[in-house]
Amino acid sequence: MKAAIVSDIHANLEALQAVVEDARGRNFASFLCLGDVVGYGADPNACVRTLRDLCAVAIMGNHDEGVVGGHANGFNCLAGIALEWTRSRVSHSTAEWLASCHYTMDLGDAVLCHGTLANPKAFNYLIFADAIAAHFANQDKPLAFVGHTHVPACYHAYPEAGEIQTVSRFGMGETIEVDPSDGTYWVFNVGSVGRPRDLCRNARYATIEGPERGPYRITLREVEYDAEAAARKIREAGLPVKLADSLLPRPGPNVKNAGKGNVEKNS
Ligand SMILES: [Fe+2]
Repeated sequence: MKAAIVSDIHANLEALQAVVEDARGRNFASFLCLGDVVGYGADPNACVRTLRDLCAVAIMGNHDEGVVGGHANGFNCLAGIALEWTRSRVSHSTAEWLASCHYTMDLGDAVLCHGTLANPKAFNYLIFADAIAAHFANQDKPLAFVGHTHVPACYHAYPEAGEIQTVSRFGMGETIEVDPSDGTYWVFNVGSVGRPRDLCRNARYATIEGPERGPYRITLREVEYDAEAAARKIREAGLPVKLADSLLPRPGPNVKNAGKGNVEKNS
């Protein structure tokens, strides 16, 4: 298996193009999408066109469902405004592709979904211990990949040893080796391409590579992109300014040269 895994693009074409270029430069030609292609950003149709040509597998996110499903359950004010804007802009072919996405998909040793495997249509967040335990109770493959929180993370479980779960940080550039034959279950959150929610504003994605049946190497990757251009498009589209500003790097204790997107990583 050799693929790039993207999630939570949120209609940010500049971030998506940077990720695709980076992945192709590393010889990843196959792409998997974990959902939320649209919502918040100004380029829903272009992002869907890009992914439609690239992805063998695409998963339904809550924003994708909101656009084609006609409801805005659980959306906050900004997300609701963006949802209405997106609904009014998506083409027929974009809506058709979004509606064709699956809530879960099995792929060899892996299963893909947007939030968690405990009722995937509920789009729960894989953050708290009860949600993680419920997820693992529904994971029957050694590997799972999710998005939705926009924050990269990695959790693993050793059911045979009686351990419910252990939580690991999924660090930038970090590669984790997974051997499906050792009885361990893993779930990776690949972060967000187009709307990261931590101090780092770079686009995130993950790659998986390894022989059929493993062991697999999973790596979290980070790519700088033209966030100013994506933010400008959001402002020009008449979407809330806060959606534009939140794409731009913010100075903070962990950020050097914030305007250039260079990040000093702490543990
Ligand atoms: Fe999202």
